[in-house]
Amino acid sequence: MALLYDTSTKRPAYEVFPSPSPSLAVYEERHRARPHIDRRKRFFGHLFVLCVFLGLLFLFKLNGRHHLEFGHEVGHNSHWYYPHHSESHWSDEVTWGEHNSVDLLEVTDHSCAEWPEVEHLNSEGLSTVQHTFELPIDSEILFLVARGPLMDGNVNITQSDDENDSAIVSISTSYDDAELLQSIKLCKVAARKGENGVGIFSSHPHPHHHIHHIHFEISVAFPKGSGPSPLVVSDFRTEMKGVFGHQVANLSETLSFNSVSLKGAYRPVEIKSLQARYVDIKSAHSPIEGNFTVKKSLRLSTANAHINVAVDLLNDKTDEDTTEVIMNTANSPIEASISLFSFDSGETSSSDGAYRVRAHNANAPVKIIFPTAPINSTVRLDAKTTMAPINVQMHNTFEGAFTVHTTPFDKQVIVAEEGPDPEERDRKRNLIFDDFHGGISKGHVYWGTGELGKHRGSTRLDTVAGQISLKF
Ligand SMILES: *[C@@H]1O[C@H](CO)[C@@H](O)[C@H](O)[C@H]1NC(C)=O
Ligand SMILES: *[C@@H]1O[C@H](CO)[C@@H](O)[C@H](O)[C@H]1NC(C)=O
Ligand SMILES: *[C@@H]1O[C@H](CO)[C@@H](O)[C@H](O)[C@H]1NC(C)=O
Ligand SMILES: *[C@@H]1O[C@H](CO)[C@@H](O)[C@H](O)[C@H]1NC(C)=O
Ligand SMILES: *[C@@H]1O[C@H](CO)[C@@H](O)[C@H](O)[C@H]1NC(C)=O
Repeated sequence: MALLYDTSTKRPAYEVFPSPSPSLAVYEERHRARPHIDRRKRFFGHLFVLCVFLGLLFLFKLNGRHHLEFGHEVGHNSHWYYPHHSESHWSDEVTWGEHNSVDLLEVTDHSCAEWPEVEHLNSEGLSTVQHTFELPIDSEILFLVARGPLMDGNVNITQSDDENDSAIVSISTSYDDAELLQSIKLCKVAARKGENGVGIFSSHPHPHHHIHHIHFEISVAFPKGSGPSPLVVSDFRTEMKGVFGHQVANLSETLSFNSVSLKGAYRPVEIKSLQARYVDIKSAHSPIEGNFTVKKSLRLSTANAHINVAVDLLNDKTDEDTTEVIMNTANSPIEASISLFSFDSGETSSSDGAYRVRAHNANAPVKIIFPTAPINSTVRLDAKTTMAPINVQMHNTFEGAFTVHTTPFDKQVIVAEEGPDPEERDRKRNLIFDDFHGGISKGHVYWGTGELGKHRGSTRLDTVAGQISLKF
């Protein structure tokens, strides 16, 4: 199977869409009328998930073994997906999400890499050429962009053992036809003042008879921090259009980002460890796995691939802001272990803190555990899926309201485990059901009399045709 490039949308031409799930109300109606169809529905739901899994497994295997193959579509003008091809100046925009956009102002030909005159083929018939760029580490924004067709590669983010003023970006380009290089540019890009990056740009290659291979292995090596302190980086962003994965080394103890944003697709995101105030990872059709330490916000978004993460959330109780985790995928499981900590003027604290966790999925399970959370912390959890179970283990310090919603007759297990009072005041743990009908359970859980605790946080779990297990 070849993954063909759809030149009209500039995206690889395969996509897996979930069938629209029936709306809750409609489903419930049907269900009430004929309870026995429930099991069949669930069976087909599971069958569907299995098929998607196998399909994806196949895709990943394929990705791992070969370079992707890009077919040539005729009838397209040669068009650069970067700064217009005028004499020496380019101008274009890189859009950073909805809010910011960075103009690529000063991309000049002399800041672009030269391609070699002669080819050295390896045993697989590929040539490889290496280029290195240096980006000042004190830049407000450090970025990496890939634009245009034929884009396929991997970004490996590491830290070296040497102090330096620059991050080193090395790009190793492998290709099977030197003519292909005429349609590729690797350039150092200075955007606005203080915004420095490297861009990989491509135009449609000249029509040719055979299918090309080109692959970019990109490594970003941050320097060591000065002395024993971790390196501080203000803002690092990648926006890799095409087929790109990301790897991040074990950086959390030696590198502290204010903000990190990684965007790729079709290849996995693997993060040994990463520490930042803000993290935003978007990677369609490929799994996101890793260990995070986050102070403000962690957003993970993919589709048709799993999310499997361990997260430490550090909430600053002095600024009254909530620390949040938002996870979105479909058709593949979400699994998260989220430890909550609070701190007060730099010192870790054993109480308070405000946290929000949201996990949305469809046709696949959601499993979230909270191994630890401060006393009197405010936790708001919202987990949703369809056709699959939700499994949540709150920490024993959790206090607040809960709402659990499944299709009627689907099993719900809601329990509070006996245990010692975390405040050591010999209080008893209370689990009170206020309401239970039509697949909806509502109640409160709190320590002692719960005057304040009862309304502190909230847990909302919602699935259609799936079981729910909620443990406090
Ligand atoms: C990323 O770089 C590190 C350090 O150079 C290396 O050990 C690791 O194998 C690389 N990972 C990938 C996927 O290339
Ligand atoms: C930083 O690294 C570059 C590339 O390895 C090297 O040429 C340069 O001398 C280094 N600068 C310092 C201050 O060590
Ligand atoms: C990550 O690096 C830290 C030191 O920087 C080390 O203590 C820790 O064991 C490493 N973790 C892993 C999983 O390699
Ligand atoms: C997360 O950290 C654990 C050790 O703390 C390590 O075993 C695991 O491989 C890490 N996850 C990833 C995706 O690197
Ligand atoms: C938790 O909150 C209660 C009520 O406000 C307070 O009495 C108690 O001291 C707090 N516990 C901690 C450890 O701060």
